[in-house]
Amino acid sequence: MTKFKALIVHASEFGSTKEVAHVVAEEFFQKGFDVKIENAAEVKQIKQYDAVIIGAAIHYDKWMKEARGFIKRFEQELSTKQVAYFFTCLTLVKARQKDLNKVMKYSNDILSSSLKIKPISVGAFAGVLDYTRMKHFNKFVAKIVFTLLKIRPKDYRRWGEIYHWINETIDAVKKNCYITSNEN
Ligand SMILES: Cc1cc2nc3c(=O)[nH]c(=O)nc-3n(C[C@H](O)[C@H](O)[C@H](O)COP(=O)(O)O)c2cc1C
Repeated sequence: MTKFKALIVHASEFGSTKEVAHVVAEEFFQKGFDVKIENAAEVKQIKQYDAVIIGAAIHYDKWMKEARGFIKRFEQELSTKQVAYFFTCLTLVKARQKDLNKVMKYSNDILSSSLKIKPISVGAFAGVLDYTRMKHFNKFVAKIVFTLLKIRPKDYRRWGEIYHWINETIDAVKKNCYITSNEN
């Protein structure tokens, strides 16, 4: 039986979203997919993939530009594949109602970056605040902003939630891949 192929694409300034992307890739591999993982800015083509999972950090209230650029470049092809998005951010750390509203806005902005692509789901995860990974301007801004917000440096990723999303996404991708391959 031919294996379904998944491409995991990431855009990550300080590495924590890339680490999540690697876990996504590992889970797809464990569930029987052929998997490739690539930096969003470096992807040349996506023709052979049945599923494409795109994950990026939120920086300055936006999904990283490399992820947005990837969607722009491959919009037409992505509209014919199984797609899921995820993002990491620190707005989810406190998770008050106003934070959840902001996270909902992040999701909606990502969804509205293409109306042709119909993703299976959008995963939103708390990320990492680690000043030792940052340099110069980002470090300066982040220290001011997150000190004011009373968010201290820490790995806020909740791996249970992340694995739950990945496995739900894999189940949906598999189901749709089987339906699509039987139609052809
Ligand atoms: C310069 C900078 C800007 C950020 N802007 C936001 C933001 O607007 N909203 C948010 O929720 N998190 C923001 N974050 C938090 C990041 O989304 C979080 O730290 C994420 O885990 C970083 O992922 P990365 O390690 O893959 O770059 C920002 C972090 C930095 C350092």
